[in-house]
Amino acid sequence: MEIKELKENKKQFLPLLLLADEQEDMIERYLDRGTMYVLDDDGVKCECVVTDEGKGVLEIKNIATEPAHQGKGYGKILIDFVAMEYKGKYSILQVGTGDSPLTIPFYEKCGFTYSHSIKNFFIDNYDHPIYEAGTQLVDMIILRRKL
Ligand SMILES: CC(C)(COP(=O)(O)OP(=O)(O)OC[C@H]1O[C@@H](n2cnc3c(N)ncnc32)[C@H](O)[C@@H]1OP(=O)(O)O)[C@@H](O)C(=O)NCCC(=O)NCCS
Repeated sequence: MEIKELKENKKQFLPLLLLADEQEDMIERYLDRGTMYVLDDDGVKCECVVTDEGKGVLEIKNIATEPAHQGKGYGKILIDFVAMEYKGKYSILQVGTGDSPLTIPFYEKCGFTYSHSIKNFFIDNYDHPIYEAGTQLVDMIILRRKL
């Protein structure tokens, strides 16, 4: 298994990126300035994109595991890799997600705890309603983990 930074042609993994963030122009807001990592285990199984949000905060903007390979530990391995890589360089690793049973428990397993919410983020920033696990996403939930 190998985790490497992808510096060029980040959009070759657009189907994975879209799993985590279904509106392409939202991905374009952070893809160029973001640092992208791919986990390769006999083919790319998981990717994530992190950005510098200032004041010592590093944010995971996008993380997705190939559907056939979810639940095998790849997402957690990639988050732990990012945490190790940036320890001492940033003080907080943060992630924003919808209030969904498909993502919050995953981040909690990865050591994140609730920080705050951004009201109406999914209504104000997306051009269509976003549904996850049958519920419309409204507020962005920010979770944090110390680095
Ligand atoms: C969320 C996602 C990235 C998790 O990746 P993954 O590789 O499947 O996660 P892992 O296998 O590393 O899971 C790590 C731990 O979280 C737990 N977990 C993962 N998803 C969970 C869920 N929906 N509910 C409860 N626990 C969950 C796992 O059971 C595992 O627990 P363990 O360490 O006790 O075994 C993956 O489900 C995904 O790609 N989803 C679609 C894209 C997406 O929604 N991205 C996040 C956008 S905010």
